[in-house]
Amino acid sequence: MPIKSICCLGAGYVGGPTMAMIAAKCADIQVTVADMNEHRIAAWNSAALPIYEPGLDAVVASAIGRNLHFTTDIRSAIAAADLIFVSVGTPTKSYGIGAGRAADLRYIESAARLIAEVSEGNKIIVEKSTIPVKTATAIKAILAANSPHGATFQVLSNPEFLAEGTAVEDLECPDRILIGGETTAEGNAAVEALAAVYARWIPRERILTTNLWSSELSKLVANAFLAQRISSINSISALCEATGADVDEVARACGMDSRIGPKFLKASIGFGGSCFQKDILNLVYLCDSFNLPHVAEYWRQVVHLNDWQKTRFVEKIVRTLYNTVNGKRIGILGFAFKKDTNDTRESAAIHVCRDLLLERAHLAIYDPRVSPQTIREDLAAAGVSAEIIASNVEICTDSYAAATGAHALATLTEWDEFRTLDLPRIYDLMLKPAFIFDGRAILPADELTAHGFDAFVIGRGL
Ligand code: NAD
Ligand code: UGA
Repeated sequence: MPIKSICCLGAGYVGGPTMAMIAAKCADIQVTVADMNEHRIAAWNSAALPIYEPGLDAVVASAIGRNLHFTTDIRSAIAAADLIFVSVGTPTKSYGIGAGRAADLRYIESAARLIAEVSEGNKIIVEKSTIPVKTATAIKAILAANSPHGATFQVLSNPEFLAEGTAVEDLECPDRILIGGETTAEGNAAVEALAAVYARWIPRERILTTNLWSSELSKLVANAFLAQRISSINSISALCEATGADVDEVARACGMDSRIGPKFLKASIGFGGSCFQKDILNLVYLCDSFNLPHVAEYWRQVVHLNDWQKTRFVEKIVRTLYNTVNGKRIGILGFAFKKDTNDTRESAAIHVCRDLLLERAHLAIYDPRVSPQTIREDLAAAGVSAEIIASNVEICTDSYAAATGAHALATLTEWDEFRTLDLPRIYDLMLKPAFIFDGRAILPADELTAHGFDAFVIGRGL
């Protein structure tokens, strides 16, 4: 049966953009995104969307009010839908068994219980959230045991591969759509119904169908492989600094081998974002649970290396500034976990700023998209006291304000505007010697030296 009405539980970074794209591409399907977070829903219904994502405003504007709706009335949205995406958060568990590693599945479970309670007739339930392999078994059991109106369900896995900052292009033209389902007649029909939605704008050969467990696991593995490449190149960045090799040149030389490929080899202060660390830790926990300690240890190292890279960068700053940053003003350029997003979840910048504040530095932080309130909240959540935030953190409105009177400047996010800074002006504004720590290797290294800076570039050295 063709899908006429879709609901999505969770109006976050995935639910909002993904449903907006489906609604924009399928004018005849009613798409309702439901979330209990009133502020978020109000923002989706306003001109100021709750997330910054290039091109998203236009996609939302093309469908909102026509066939795209954002609501807090979760029950009605579930009741009206043929197909329900579950796109709620699956953070790392912070308590009890598996704390610090396992996925916290409480939002998934409560969503499944609500779906069971409200549903009538036949519905397709789609796992959009990233979850541990075998979660569909739990969802099916909850649905089967709690359905007062005798509803029947097919559970599919359809993980999301979009990256923040490029969500719209990733959704418009994905490398692949992955749909996992049960290999029964009903399961195949449900897979086909969802595939038909995507096929409105995505070529059929890019719509991949597998069994449920392959689909669930592929999502964790894809993120683990991507993060592993970053930790690999970051490990080599340290060796480059020690030897005089240039990590960008090494990455280019290696990446031109078609078996290796050029993407995801940009050295940095470490990967951030809400998912890489959480999903690898989840994979590690699964491997331990299935008694595969060697496999678990292998993947754990990807996270260890990432933590070391962040710490290493802070140590480089402190050592270079004559072993003390106490009372020194350090300009911080970028706080988001990557460019073109206002998301700061697990941003490496939080770790770097926290450790510099513990060394009693004064930070002048500028990010083009992250709000001052978010910066302060993130630092507080990372353990920086309210007094230190009040006395030692200044939020600036541009790079030049952050550089004014600074002993050093550090680029932590690769925003394009940092690539074209007026370097002589920055130099004049800073104290001398004027130190720059380019944690993203985005500044023109040769020009930095020519303009008089003492420059450290990740993967290149001083
Ligand atoms: P998010 O925290 O931005 O949004 C989740 C939303 O779900 C919240 O607004 C919350 O209020 C809502 N919610 C929780 N329980 C609910 C319920 N029962 N009914 C309705 N709404 C409910 O999370 P996100 O970044 O969108 O991630 C969602 C999932 O997608 C995670 O599993 C994540 O790993 C995965 N994922 C995220 C990205 C990304 O770029 N952020 C990419 C791919 C996959
Ligand atoms: C990542 C994956 O790329 C998506 O496919 C996936 O859907 C998503 O996680 C998810 O599951 O949440 P995202 O975290 O949004 O997407 O962004 P990425 O572009 O992957 O960047 C992650 C982090 O790695 C950023 O901090 C970025 O600066 C860093 N990075 C990325 C590097 O340091 N070097 C690189 O070469 C690439």
